[in-house]
Amino acid sequence: MKIKVLGAAAGGGFPQWNCNARLSRAVRSGGPGFRARTQSSIAVSADGSRWTIFNASPDLRRQIELTPELHPRLDEGVRNSPIEAVVLTNADVDHIAGLINLRESEPFSIYAHERVLAVLASNSIFNVLNPEIVKREPLGFLSEVPLSGPEGPLGLTIEAFPVPGKIALFLEDAERGDGFGTEEGDTIGLKISDGQGEQARTCYYIPGCAKVDAAILDRVEGAGCLLFDGTVLTDGEMLDAGVGVKTGQRMGHIAIAGREGSLEAFKNSRIGQKFFIHINNTNPILEDGSEAERHVGAAGWGISYDGMEIEL
Ligand code: MLT
Ligand code: MN
Repeated sequence: MKIKVLGAAAGGGFPQWNCNARLSRAVRSGGPGFRARTQSSIAVSADGSRWTIFNASPDLRRQIELTPELHPRLDEGVRNSPIEAVVLTNADVDHIAGLINLRESEPFSIYAHERVLAVLASNSIFNVLNPEIVKREPLGFLSEVPLSGPEGPLGLTIEAFPVPGKIALFLEDAERGDGFGTEEGDTIGLKISDGQGEQARTCYYIPGCAKVDAAILDRVEGAGCLLFDGTVLTDGEMLDAGVGVKTGQRMGHIAIAGREGSLEAFKNSRIGQKFFIHINNTNPILEDGSEAERHVGAAGWGISYDGMEIEL
């Protein structure tokens, strides 16, 4: 299985268009130890030639241009694409807006929980993807779903599972209490496998997660790879940077550091490779050589970046 990180940043990207805080300034000015990152997406392929995109970021057009594997094939028709499926983990802007880049009557399949498919159905702009051509496939929980595109099975299976999280920001309803109207299915994690049984290679992709509970720990045990929510290092990081009033928890994201953080939660897990992804532009791990980056590295985690490749 080949995995390519198309975009390692959280919503807004790195730098974020209107951000003048330390890290965005540093990366914008080409500071040493900084590299720009686009918004949250990965591409996965069983055979290196037919690809599934996991989350469609607003930067998808640029991400495709920067990834030769995703270009139209020279030996096929005047219109073609190796992208045969798109899987969505929630309805956040950084994960669905890029679907609009995929218009032009190219057939592919969209897999998402019904809660997320309902968001697409209720926003008529997504009708640019004619459902007759772009199939929308509801993902239930706890069953292995073989991914399929217009050319048939893609050699990958996915299994969706609910993770603690939050409804998309633009759908929050303050009248519906602490959860703002969040329901199961608004945020999912995915197990991605290239087969079944002992020989299968497995990657867990969980770019948004508010809490690592026993069910998640149980699932990821023994996995070949984990790509996990690295939005914030500390819960109050956006307030500390003076760029916002929301904590990581309020946004549906667990912090990396601290007693309640993901480093602590996964510290005894047996996982082949672990990477943080969906990294917010306030997160100090974005500075190579920083204390935060070294701390995360010493705990056995990599920090993903655009163009990073993983082969399982
Ligand atoms: C998030 O991950 O919390 C969202 O993408 C935030 C946003 O919508 O900008
Ligand atoms: Mn996001």
